[in-house]
Amino acid sequence: LNYHVPRTRREILEILLKGLLRLEYRGYDSAGVGIDGGNGKEWEANARSIQLIKQSGKVKALDDELTKQQDMDMDVEFDVHLGIAHTRWATHGAPSPVNSHPQRSDKKSNEECLLLKCICVFFFFLEFIVIHNGIITNYKDLQKFLESKGYEFESETDTETIAKLVKYMYDNRESEDLSFATLVERVTQQLEGAFVLVFKSVHYPGEAVGTRRGGPLLIGVKSDHKLSTDHIPILYRSCKLLVNCSLSQDTCHTLFAEEKKSVEYYFASDASAVIEHTNRVIFLEDDDVAAVTAGRLTIHRIKRTAGDHPARAIQTLQMELQQIMKGNYSSFMQKEIFEQPESVVNTMRGRKRDMTTDHIKEIQRCRRLILIACGTSYHAGVATRQVLEELTELPVMVELASDFLDRNTPVFRDDVCFFISQSGETADSLMALRYCKERGALTVGVTNTVGSSISRETDCGVHINAGPEIGVASTKAYTSQFVALIMFALLMCDDRISMQPRRREIIQGLRVLPDLIKEVLSLDDEIQRLAAELYQQKSVLIMGRGYHYATCLEGALKIKEITYMHSEGILAGELKHGPLALVDKLMPVIMIIMRDHTYTKCQNALQQVVARAGRPIVICDKDDYETAKSSSRTIKVPHCVDCLQGILSVIPLQLLSFHLAVLRGFDVDCPRNLAKSVTVE
Ligand code: G6P
Repeated sequence: LNYHVPRTRREILEILLKGLLRLEYRGYDSAGVGIDGGNGKEWEANARSIQLIKQSGKVKALDDELTKQQDMDMDVEFDVHLGIAHTRWATHGAPSPVNSHPQRSDKKSNEECLLLKCICVFFFFLEFIVIHNGIITNYKDLQKFLESKGYEFESETDTETIAKLVKYMYDNRESEDLSFATLVERVTQQLEGAFVLVFKSVHYPGEAVGTRRGGPLLIGVKSDHKLSTDHIPILYRSCKLLVNCSLSQDTCHTLFAEEKKSVEYYFASDASAVIEHTNRVIFLEDDDVAAVTAGRLTIHRIKRTAGDHPARAIQTLQMELQQIMKGNYSSFMQKEIFEQPESVVNTMRGRKRDMTTDHIKEIQRCRRLILIACGTSYHAGVATRQVLEELTELPVMVELASDFLDRNTPVFRDDVCFFISQSGETADSLMALRYCKERGALTVGVTNTVGSSISRETDCGVHINAGPEIGVASTKAYTSQFVALIMFALLMCDDRISMQPRRREIIQGLRVLPDLIKEVLSLDDEIQRLAAELYQQKSVLIMGRGYHYATCLEGALKIKEITYMHSEGILAGELKHGPLALVDKLMPVIMIIMRDHTYTKCQNALQQVVARAGRPIVICDKDDYETAKSSSRTIKVPHCVDCLQGILSVIPLQLLSFHLAVLRGFDVDCPRNLAKSVTVE
């Protein structure tokens, strides 16, 4: 929203589409944009109509569609303007123009019915439009109610009910001066499920309202003027300030908006969309309703609950634009793989969050550790479980968040629950966190995103500091989570005399790790050649055990995610209990055999595969000539302390999946059907 910052329509669309491109990694099956319609000089009159343009496919397709438009005056200048845009990851309804967002409040006309069948849709004369991340679980009931009131639905989305509901509540308002924020508050009171919403309406020209429950929403603030405060006080619905708030109501109402002062607000679900405009952001909390009216930002809450903060801080982001650019790499994933020598060092530099000596003592005294996560983050838990058990001498459970919740797993006050999440927003992990909190367990976050829900809702934690990860297939976040968990294990036993030799060995391993990662990355050409031999295969099996079972799971996940080949991570100890039946001379088998306590058993597995005419490709220590003799091919990695070796064994598989995907002609950063941050259960 630009307030007294003149922008042409062209600039506005550029800002919106660029923002979508930065967010595209979170969802990319369709996209849409809603802007002011008119071409006149008076911005208020312009804002009395909305243009809505939606298209299937990636943001580029929407961009192409917009550049084709002849009848949109791109040079018309808006002094005040609100545009909203969205890139979708379908939950309800297949990717199509009509199912993409913004969704609209209005009935379709006959002409529009025809248009709906086209590749791209354009709508005019709309009252309310809304964009939504999340799932509304009671949308069917709401839809039935609205249909009974004469509303017709055109899409298969849950979001359309919100657009229709806001209009219904507006049409049935009891007083003429109902504010946009209050209207939205009333709408959200009817919604169940998870949502992040931003609304635009012809009835409230130049006003934006955003709210969240269970997903991230932040507001970037850009102004040439010095901001009058670094906190936005929270208002009740009645607009009374909470007690204890150091700022006066006056301060709140003049915030950024002395007469005609220029300011731009950027509502976004992720900092990467706003960072090129401003590094000053406000992270909203669940149930905050943020509204910009006449250039002033206010944040309302319906009711005050114990422990509420009286204000939201305006924070300065440390993120640099170049961190979210590809640089000389062909994809973000490739860039992130090659960043690992530095990203693990940044993790080691460490950023504990709110972790006091009391927390550490509480963890040392607890009855068990439970590591809870999804996807790659879960594998980081599997990878470090053994060393956590060894150094803390506590039982450690590693749980997939969805299954943990499905089982209603018993959790006690003397448990410590870790939530490992790159984004800090994964809905399943967030639900599990709330479940554990309710049961009184201490909660610890291991996240990569400052200000994320998991980092804010856990009692304490670590920020892994890997830098923004954009590629949907996680790489550097995995190795950084791995390092962070090892460092936590070291912290837990730093005063135990019996553990000191082992601690020293691991610390020495951490020191040399960045150079060893560089050595593994230098195998890139060799791995590319291997990929050229494998890329037409249908399936790849990856076997290992002990510290490397997690590598097998993670390597197989990388291959599935971006190459769409079938791949399975197999615990080598289970080989003879079933998977051996898959082995023949045609099936590609990758085995991880390192010189640790499982070495002899891995050799047995290797012999079992060779005896079935299998031709294993083995990832092994660089001086392991014995293993090389029985392998059809080896990928030789440098040796490191056993519990860190998994970082070195996973990188060849990250590289392999990357090259396989390129050779198969797929978009490495945006694999089909997936999204980086899954904020729905
Ligand atoms: C999605 C992503 C995965 C990620 C998983 C967990 O499925 O595509 O790459 O591992 O979510 O995400 P988190 O942000 O919680 O680590």
